[in-house]
Amino acid sequence: MKVLGIESSCDETGVALVEAVGAATPRLLANALHSQAQMHRDYGGVVPELASRDHIRRVVPLADQVLHEAGVDRHAIDVIAFTRGPGLAGALLVGAGMACALAAALGRPAMGVHHLEGHLLSPFLSADPPLFPFLALLVSGGHTQLMRVRDVGHYELLGETIDDAAGEAFDKSAKTLGLPYPGGPELARLAEQGDARAFALPRPLLHSGDLDFSFAGLKTAVWTQRRKLGDSPSPRQLADLAASTQAAIVDVLVAKCERAIERSGLSRLVVAGGVGANRVLRERLTQACRRSGTQLHFPELALCTDNGAMIALAAAMRLQRDANACDAGYAFDVRPRWPLEELRLG
Ligand code: KG4
Ligand code: ZN
Repeated sequence: MKVLGIESSCDETGVALVEAVGAATPRLLANALHSQAQMHRDYGGVVPELASRDHIRRVVPLADQVLHEAGVDRHAIDVIAFTRGPGLAGALLVGAGMACALAAALGRPAMGVHHLEGHLLSPFLSADPPLFPFLALLVSGGHTQLMRVRDVGHYELLGETIDDAAGEAFDKSAKTLGLPYPGGPELARLAEQGDARAFALPRPLLHSGDLDFSFAGLKTAVWTQRRKLGDSPSPRQLADLAASTQAAIVDVLVAKCERAIERSGLSRLVVAGGVGANRVLRERLTQACRRSGTQLHFPELALCTDNGAMIALAAAMRLQRDANACDAGYAFDVRPRWPLEELRLG
C-alpha cells in the first residue's frame, strides 16, 4: 500500500510517499518540503493569508517531485492523506482540496489525518522505531502535551500547557531578544555561546505535583530581564539571556517527563514536535532516561518539524489497523481546532 501524505497546516508545505507492506512498519519512499519561514520573516510571524497562497503555489510541484524521486507513477498511489487539523483554516483547506481532487481524479480514497498524531508517530520512520505502549512528549509551536499512547488511535492526555506552548515560549522569547522568525532555532543557536546560569528565570509549575505546564510567566520574565539590559545590550548578555531562557524551558520539560515516567510506569518515551529538535533538550532527556532505564525515541531530525512524511505514515498505520479508516467520498472539511483525544480507533 502506497500512501501520499500532504501537510499544509501552518508554514511548511510537505508532501511524502510512504509504503506499508503487510503489518510491517511503513517505509518512507520520498519526502519533499518547502518552508515559508523566509517569507514570513519580515512580519515576525506567520501571516495566514500569505501561507495559504504559498501552499497553493508549492503543493503540486512538490507532489510531482516526490513521485519522480520515488520513481512511482501517480496511478500506483493507493490512498491520499492530508492534514485535516489542527492548524490555520485556509492553509489546511489547500492540502485538503489538493488531496481530495487528486484522490477523485485517480479514483482512490482520501483520508484526513490529525497533525499531532503525525508528530506522535513520526519516530516510527526512524532507524530505531519505538514499540507500543509509550509515553509521548509533544512539543510544538502550538502544543505541549504529555500523552500515554497505547496504540495508534489510543491516546490519553496526562498533562498539557495551561497557556503558551513550549515552542511559543521559544519563539516569543526570541522575538524579545530581537531574533528573526522562526525564533526557536535562532534562540537555541544564540544560547550555544551563553551561560545558562547568568539569569535567574522562573521554572513555572516545576513543583506543582501534576503534569501540566505553563510558559506565559517565563515569557514575561524574559521580557523584564531584556528591558533591564537597556537599549544596547552586549552580544554576551543576549547570549546569556538566550541560554538562561532555554535552560528554564528545558528544565521544566525534563522534570515533567521524569515525573510522567515515574507515574505511568511506562518504559519508553517518545519526543515529537518541532522543539524536539532542540539539542539541549535531547541531551538532558537522554541523561534523564539513562538514569531511569527508559528507552528514548526521537524522530529523525528532519522529521521533527512539520512534514508530509508523518501525515502519510499516520494514515498508513491507521489503515494497517482498520482497512476502512479512509474517508467516504471526496467532500472535505478541516478542523482548525481538534483535540487529539477525540481520535478513537477500534
Ligand atoms: O512541530 P512544528 O514544526 O510546528 C507546529 O506544529 O507548531 O514546531 C515548530 C516549533 C516552533 O515554535 C519552533 O520555534 C520550534 O518548534 N523549534 C525549536 C527548534 N526547532 C524548532 N525550538 C527550540 N529549539 C529548536 N532547535
Ligand atoms: Zn507541527
